[in-house]
Amino acid sequence: MTTPASTGTGTLDVRDSRTGTQYQLPITDGTIRANDLLQIKAGADDPGLRSYDPAFLNTASCRSAITFIDGDKGILRYRGYPIEQLAEKSTFLEVAYLLRHGELPTQAQYDELVYHVTYHTYVHENIRKFLEGFRYDAHPMSMLCSSVAALSAFYPDAHHVHDEEQRNISWIRLIAKLPTMAAFAYRHVKGLPIIYPDNALTYTENFLSMIARMSEPRYEPNPVFTRALEVLFILHADHEQNCSTNAVRAVGSSHVDPFTAVAAGIAALFGPLHGGANEAVLYMIKEIGHPKNVKAFVEEVKSGKGEKKLMGFGHRVYKSYDPRAKIVKKLADEVFAQVGMDKDLEIALELERTALEDEYFIKRKLYPNVDFYTGLIYRSMAFPTDFFTVLFAVARTAGWLAQWEEMLLDKEQKIARPRQIYTGYDERPYEPRINERFPRFGSKDSLRR
Ligand code: COA
Repeated sequence: MTTPASTGTGTLDVRDSRTGTQYQLPITDGTIRANDLLQIKAGADDPGLRSYDPAFLNTASCRSAITFIDGDKGILRYRGYPIEQLAEKSTFLEVAYLLRHGELPTQAQYDELVYHVTYHTYVHENIRKFLEGFRYDAHPMSMLCSSVAALSAFYPDAHHVHDEEQRNISWIRLIAKLPTMAAFAYRHVKGLPIIYPDNALTYTENFLSMIARMSEPRYEPNPVFTRALEVLFILHADHEQNCSTNAVRAVGSSHVDPFTAVAAGIAALFGPLHGGANEAVLYMIKEIGHPKNVKAFVEEVKSGKGEKKLMGFGHRVYKSYDPRAKIVKKLADEVFAQVGMDKDLEIALELERTALEDEYFIKRKLYPNVDFYTGLIYRSMAFPTDFFTVLFAVARTAGWLAQWEEMLLDKEQKIARPRQIYTGYDERPYEPRINERFPRFGSKDSLRR
């Protein structure tokens, strides 16, 4: 099978200048095997050459058939389907099925999927009580992360990860219950009564119902909001080996249950450099305050030598326009046409225009990423800022689970265990006299701080 990643086979001929020895390392799919480096030794005691790659800048950790990204060309495909077509034509559940099974569902498969997901939306009442134990100002990502981890205690059989039936039911439970738990967290923080799932509604409508319904007997879906959320869920469903997916794969590689592995993904997503960026965009826009302040803010970012960043700009993989950002920008227009222009959109547009014309951003290939506009859409739908990453987590669960299962079924995978370059002391004697120890970490005062 030809994949976009395959760049042929061949060999890499290398000569080790330490010993003068020549080696031929096989090249497959544009990579060499790190383990092939082990044969390159400087002497008998040398364990062999290793590659050093902090933050995995140039290391493929797996073979994957799920998501393809070409960062230079701005291409994103799930299982070969362009993201633009999926966002326009699919539902989120279809995409979740596609990510896991590799094919779009038939009508019968889709009906069965919808049936199972719909009838697993309820959570055990103790999960509701668990969520109610949080303080009013708890971050909903902390609530979601810990309650998803707690689910593993409710479904102990889920740790039979090599049993396909267990994987099937865990998949359904996670896809079905994430929106319920996310909505419960939202209602708790707001001090509003819990709204239970309404099985007559679609996946996205039901989620919005649990978020927004008050005294009305049934939630009246707003088709623009439903579609906007559906599209945003599709865009966030997977993004190959990002920080949180890598966390799910690494934690899952110990063969822990999928609830715990997905909780690890939620933990990773919480950080401001990953899923928290859309939240950070709004704080940044608030800090800017007015379009006239944009230029000064951009200058401040540029002179900050990397300390201050333009949130929602730049991407580890995309070195051109993030294809999802284009779809989101169009979606923003549709939502703003419905709810009225957001005052901060003007600042966002000015910021985008200024950065895209600026030599600093052009040189570093820093373009708006998916988070730049999603925050503005979510806020215009009245989601609180600290809830944005929760919406991301609900969608990304589909990708995490597909990647987790692919990792489990991959015969080449083992428990994830990177190597290190040790930079600490060589062996030294223990000092039993406490008063004779050198105060390496500063004075008593600094310890007290
Ligand atoms: N604003 C200003 N400068 C930025 C920047 C940003 N958003 N993102 C990167 N840069 C600069 C870096 O300071 C660095 O400059 P230098 O070469 O002068 O040192 C250069 O661009 C390369 O950045 P680097 O940090 O090596 O890129 P990365 O691949 O490690 O980081 C991100 C990728 C996404 C973490 C980074 O772009 C970022 O922090 N963006 C803001 C957060 C965000 O929107 N995250 C969501 C991702 S979907």
